[in-house]
Amino acid sequence: MYEAFWKSAGAAADISIASWTSLSYFSDVTNLCWFLEPQLAHQIRRLHRLVGNAVAGEDRFIIVGTGSSQLFQAALYALSPPDAAEPMSVVSLAPFYSTYPPLTDYLRSPLHKWAGDASKFAGDRYIELVCTPNNPDGSIREAVLCSGEGKTVHDLAYYWPQYTPITHPADHDIMLFTLSKTTGHAGSRIGWAVVKDRAVAKRMIQYIELNTIGVAREAQLRAAKILQLVSDGYESPNPDKEMKLFDFGRQKLAARWHKLTEAVQASGIFTAPSFEPAFCNFTGDVSENLPAFAWLKCEKEEVEDLESYLKEKGIMVRGGSRFGKEARYARVSMVDHDEAFDLFVQRLAAMS
Ligand SMILES: Cc1ncc(COP(=O)(O)O)c(C=O)c1O
Repeated sequence: MYEAFWKSAGAAADISIASWTSLSYFSDVTNLCWFLEPQLAHQIRRLHRLVGNAVAGEDRFIIVGTGSSQLFQAALYALSPPDAAEPMSVVSLAPFYSTYPPLTDYLRSPLHKWAGDASKFAGDRYIELVCTPNNPDGSIREAVLCSGEGKTVHDLAYYWPQYTPITHPADHDIMLFTLSKTTGHAGSRIGWAVVKDRAVAKRMIQYIELNTIGVAREAQLRAAKILQLVSDGYESPNPDKEMKLFDFGRQKLAARWHKLTEAVQASGIFTAPSFEPAFCNFTGDVSENLPAFAWLKCEKEEVEDLESYLKEKGIMVRGGSRFGKEARYARVSMVDHDEAFDLFVQRLAAMS
């Protein structure tokens, strides 16, 4: 979806990296996160300040990761006591991002284990994953558990103005963000965590040291340039060319959600969530929640497996059971290429 925006940016968003630079493992030995490129740290803080979506000043630790997926694992490692008798239970309210369970369990670690839907969990020792706006259903969430020993990780991948009104600067213990959802550069594999506590930050950094000895410096430099262009688009706009990424994203998503709603109504067999508009501090306007995914439910009694049903009709989705819900739900991407999206709504509207 973002390709057209970045094409129009042209050379202004490109970087060139000389072969003799960025050879060392180290980016900044004076920083606790020694593999974080200073330009990237600067642009991350600058963008959060501009957007007002997270408290990320100098008194917070910024940790870069190979995507927020690596930081998610680093957070579980950091929050799970190394010598506990039992693994920490990792939970999230259903429907939850389908990658959380396999990412928690694939190494069968003695540190942590997936324990499913947070609303069904009873116990004191847990890590609750709070994804808001939520993947897959776009809901705005807060932690549902509150126990003295419990920990939370806030996955704020979609807390950006193209997807949702920015109602307050988030200020949680561990907040995860990713370039993939902020600007569309998923392949650069850059994510960042904003962390309050030094000891937790240190353990997350230790995880990344052991796992990949840092994060590709070339990708970080590219990410810094991309983020710089995003902030410049608002703070020092070019009078000849408007480069406002969040405005671009909102317009695209608003048009797509409109088309999707029409297709859902035309078919008459699906329902999609609807959301209350809210005041967005960034745009200075009341605006709508425009999630990156549509969480569809099929109201036809006989359709119990929506993923297979839609596959037969030429629509690829991820079925509800992977998100901890019934298979009559499915998640559809709202951020694909224009052609794919248009074909999807045409096919959806034609069903009955
Ligand atoms: C909620 C959420 N968290 C994390 C990720 C993974 O992000 P990354 O590409 O930075 O690993 C995704 C990707 O779809 C996501 O939807």
